[in-house]
Amino acid sequence: MKKYLVIGNPIEHSLSPMIHNYWMKKYNLIDSIYEKRKVEEKNLKDIINEIREENLVGVNVTVPFKKLIIPFLDELDSTAQETKSVNTLVKIKNKIIGYNTDKPGFALTINDLYPAKDVKAFNPIKKKTIFILGAGGVTASIISAFKQDLVKIFLSNRTKEKANELKNIFPNIEVLDWGQRPQNFDVVVNTTSIGLKQNQRIDLDFSDCDKDKNKLFYDLIYNPRETNFLKEARLRGNQIKNGQKMFLNQAMYAFKLWTNIEPEIDIEIVKLLDK
Ligand code: ATR
Repeated sequence: MKKYLVIGNPIEHSLSPMIHNYWMKKYNLIDSIYEKRKVEEKNLKDIINEIREENLVGVNVTVPFKKLIIPFLDELDSTAQETKSVNTLVKIKNKIIGYNTDKPGFALTINDLYPAKDVKAFNPIKKKTIFILGAGGVTASIISAFKQDLVKIFLSNRTKEKANELKNIFPNIEVLDWGQRPQNFDVVVNTTSIGLKQNQRIDLDFSDCDKDKNKLFYDLIYNPRETNFLKEARLRGNQIKNGQKMFLNQAMYAFKLWTNIEPEIDIEIVKLLDK
């Protein structure tokens, strides 16, 4: 049996097993199984040993271990190095390598943000203004996914220190106090956990964005499908997007690293997530 795992704490609500087991069945990997395991920090070393001994073929890492796992690894891919965040582990040629598939998973969902260059008109592309809320485990992957020369990024987090730490990695971002927002922006991305619980809302006034179809409100949360942040934006007439596609994309890239198969994000899998 080829065993795969997602580790985190809490982990009960992870939908990764459902997705990967669906693909394993679809692509006839009948000797493969993907499970979830709640672990403590002190267990991380044992997980790595299980990969070394090939009791585990692949592991996904989620909150709060994406950074804490790094000291146990032999190598990191360039994105994991930049973001100091790892969500996928695989053993290649006797080395345990940490990958970050959150960044490409998110990047794939914002490709349409950048207009094609109009060479004839000699028009420089107008930079997009991006406002990112939060500075948790995944935020560096989100910042890194934007084409840095085509955007201006503002970042705000309740604990300002954590936003400033991200500025050390990405010097071009501008840190705002929690509660502040840029006057103009094209995209807001919520990377905080506000909205996971039903009555939570982000205390920022976006009423000036009324009927503005050009503004995108993006919430990385996909369960619930529509947070208050997205609901309020939809009612104002803004564009909205939740984290479902990003979640599926990061899983797709992880699956490909482990099996060499690029799994299809088909209607069935979206239905499974929507249940
Ligand atoms: P971690 O910080 O351990 O990586 P996370 O779930 O990845 O955890 O990130 C949680 C994010 O949501 C953080 O940006 C957190 O802000 P702090 O850094 O100030 O803790 C943010 N967050 C969670 N609850 C919040 C709340 N009630 N108000 C404002 N921000 C909140």
